[in-house]
Amino acid sequence: MPSTVLILGAAGRFGQVLAKAFADAGWNVRAQARKPLSPALAAHPRVQAVRCDATDIAALTVAAQGASTIVNALSPIYTEWERLALPLADAALGVAKASGALLMLPGNVYNFGRELPPLLTPATPERGDVPKARIRIEMEARMAAAAIEGVDSVVIRAGDFFGGPGKGTWLDMALASNLGKGKFIYPGNPQIAHAWAYLPDLAQAFVRVAAQRAQLRGHHRLHFAGHTLTGEDFKWALEAQTGRTLRAGNLPWAFIRLASPFMPMWRELLTMRYLWERPHALDESALRALIGNVPHTPLPQALHSALADMNAAVAAPKLAQA
Ligand SMILES: NC(=O)c1ccc[n+]([C@@H]2O[C@H](COP(=O)([O-])OP(=O)(O)OC[C@H]3O[C@@H](n4cnc5c(N)ncnc54)[C@H](OP(=O)(O)O)[C@@H]3O)[C@@H](O)[C@H]2O)c1
Repeated sequence: MPSTVLILGAAGRFGQVLAKAFADAGWNVRAQARKPLSPALAAHPRVQAVRCDATDIAALTVAAQGASTIVNALSPIYTEWERLALPLADAALGVAKASGALLMLPGNVYNFGRELPPLLTPATPERGDVPKARIRIEMEARMAAAAIEGVDSVVIRAGDFFGGPGKGTWLDMALASNLGKGKFIYPGNPQIAHAWAYLPDLAQAFVRVAAQRAQLRGHHRLHFAGHTLTGEDFKWALEAQTGRTLRAGNLPWAFIRLASPFMPMWRELLTMRYLWERPHALDESALRALIGNVPHTPLPQALHSALADMNAAVAAPKLAQA
């Protein structure tokens, strides 16, 4: 019998890649989204669309029947985290509680706050000294606390996403946004290391961890290292892809700061700017101990495919909103 996974946010950046990875690995995928799935996912014989709101616990509890795993791949827009992140996380937790499925969450590095050390392990102390850090700490604390009520859960923490069909990553919004004009735009100090996660690799790691469901009693935290790159590494890699020397530029932070009182999204970006000034990498030894070799596409191949996805996303017609 193939296993079944319910993915919340299956039309999202990570959700789409994850749904394909589980389905290609032979899982039955129930794919929750408020909007239509991409044509490729909708046509996949192992993917069944679950069209409802992510807070519709009744509909999701039905969708979770028989599922061994639920992935919370939801994310409210950046300016709405205060209001929506915890209710969405609670909904996912409620469905996991009712169904007995393993709850999985893609974590990020926000939990460690502004002073994050250069190597982040699952035991690195968390510091809620920025609002989004406090929210992420609370999301994971609620998952951990639910273990007492029999909820099994695992957070797989990763750096900034790149690759996959969605838009809105730092790669398409900044670094590669001006490649056509021969420019590389970096948001911070180009000499310090920054953690990146190539989404198809991260999705494979989720599939491999979900396959270990029997070992995952209680609450677990694992780190996915992905690609640790300085801005200079990234620039060279993009130069190799494009075959041209790129001029380096920075984000206009002074202007962003000036305009931020009127631009809520820019205000949010400013609060997280420190991540571009603090070197950080993720230690994935615990993940490796569980699944063996962690999926890792070499950077040239990952970037090649991420740039192709970016171009396809720019060219793609918008999905009709039904
Ligand atoms: N982006 C990164 O670089 C990164 C790095 C590490 C970890 N993560 C974590 O990975 C997870 C997924 O991130 P992502 O970037 O893939 O997310 P995303 O594409 O921005 O959003 C995922 C889905 O969340 C749903 N959603 C948003 N607002 C909602 C609302 N008000 N009510 C119900 N559903 C709502 C949307 O589903 P509909 O289709 O229904 O609109 C959307 O497709 C998040 O926990 C994020 O923090 C992200």
